[in-house]
Amino acid sequence: MRIDIITVLPELMQSPFNDSILKRAQEKGIVEVHFHNLRDYSTNKQRSIDDYQFGGGAGMVMMIEPIDSCISKLKSERNYDEVIYMTPDGNTLNQGIANTLSLKENIIILCGHYKGVDQRVRDLFITREISIGDFVLSGGELAANVLCDAVIRLIPGVLNNETSALTDSFQDNLLAPPVYTRPAEYKGSKVPDVLLSGNFPKIEEWRENQAFQRTKERRPDLFNK
Ligand code: ADE
Repeated sequence: MRIDIITVLPELMQSPFNDSILKRAQEKGIVEVHFHNLRDYSTNKQRSIDDYQFGGGAGMVMMIEPIDSCISKLKSERNYDEVIYMTPDGNTLNQGIANTLSLKENIIILCGHYKGVDQRVRDLFITREISIGDFVLSGGELAANVLCDAVIRLIPGVLNNETSALTDSFQDNLLAPPVYTRPAEYKGSKVPDVLLSGNFPKIEEWRENQAFQRTKERRPDLFNK
């Protein structure tokens, strides 16, 4: 998969890609991430990419021209499956969206700032608008980092068996069961006996039961999906 990220703050976004699973995914050649500084596509000396909004009102709006130049250049080089805009009024990210995007070949992610982008950007170029929750961030960059992490870890070959995403919370609309490691007893608090029993069918049954109970208590809404 190739991900092209359009942002005014490329430095802000880079470090999550330089560690752990995202770093390894790139080293294995499974994913390629390219940052594009939107200011490089500005047509004026000040490298500005925003302007006052028509009709008045507080807050600047990101202009269509630099965004069009950047997206058009990328599209002239290869085909893209999705052009995603990170925005609090998009569809809320969930595991299903992450699964769908993990199967794509090339995607562009546009990070919004200020009051957002000129509506014509959304009308003309964007195929999918994604929010990471009902709160407003200073810009789309951290949201794009969250999206990339959720998607990249699902691409086949990124995780090994031990870290398999198949047992993650939400993968089957259930929360994950509790997990334990050594010591088997800590200050009187014990690991459930079944996990030490070596009886794997029983352990599996216990985990399923716990996942079900946890979901019932914390996220009963997931049962309706
Ligand atoms: N930009 C600002 N807030 C955001 C959010 N909650 N999700 C996605 N992009 C955003």
